[in-house]
Amino acid sequence: MRLFALADHRPLAAALEARAPALQVGDFELGRFANGELHVELRSPVAGEDVAVIGSARPPDRNLVELTLLCDTLRRHGARSIVAVLPYLAYARQDRPEAAKSLGAAWLGALLAASGVTRALTIDVHSPRVALLWPMPLISLDPSPLLADALGDLIAGEGPALTIVAPDRGAIARAERLRRAAGVARAIVRFDKVRTPAGVRSHLVGEVGERALVVDDILDTGGTLIACAQGLREAGARRIAVAVSHGLFTGDQWPRLWELGVDAIVCTESVGRLIAPDRRITTLECAPVIAPALQPWIRGETRADLAGS
Ligand code: R5P
Repeated sequence: MRLFALADHRPLAAALEARAPALQVGDFELGRFANGELHVELRSPVAGEDVAVIGSARPPDRNLVELTLLCDTLRRHGARSIVAVLPYLAYARQDRPEAAKSLGAAWLGALLAASGVTRALTIDVHSPRVALLWPMPLISLDPSPLLADALGDLIAGEGPALTIVAPDRGAIARAERLRRAAGVARAIVRFDKVRTPAGVRSHLVGEVGERALVVDDILDTGGTLIACAQGLREAGARRIAVAVSHGLFTGDQWPRLWELGVDAIVCTESVGRLIAPDRRITTLECAPVIAPALQPWIRGETRADLAGS
């Protein structure tokens, strides 16, 4: 199976190749005409092959054009099936039909299908609703064992028992997966979250101890986790750790988390390597989560994915 990676994920492609030698990183060139229009030239043969394309979305719009033009080129040159590996699935937060608003999650699925993608893999999709909006299978991989492993000492740590916290209702199932992976006995505590034009307001439902671990899918601006950390401090938590599947770290608000008692953030490298890592941030390679999920294609069990079938 050949693997084509967009720029942010070349290290991930190399890590996957190292884990599964039957995967071969494919070569291609992206160029632009003088006016900015993108063009692709394949340097590796793909006719009759199962291929995987790894991309994410930072910045989302540019990445999506690169990704879809590359997929379309692979299809036109005879790729048998195309698996899109999108460690961070952009646009997934637009997953509910609402009056006069875009439904970005459905749009992205349709766009990828039209570009020849036969199946997609992602890490911890924002909600199960997204897969229902897609015309082809979307598999969401669970990073909980990886996160739990990295949190090891922090979870086991001495002193008061740890409370695992969901910053909103949507995060409860995710927090539960991490609770099980980490073998923590105490029940999940959650917040009720409301987004207002003035920011995020969160209300704690339940009680916490001195140590808390907040679990969410995305740390974007940090607004959700800041409101949550404030609530936890008011409720008596003194040491707070954060585990998120996707660390976007957008803007300049999220470092407030350090002032609010957060002393560790663990996330995967789903959007590529962090440019300015802080020593309190641990980033985890995605290859251990993705490599096993690619095995059916590596073994050639892809009949159901044949383009056009
Ligand atoms: C929202 O439903 C998501 O699960 C995240 O909580 C949210 O997208 C995080 O964004 P921010 O960091 O900007 O609050």
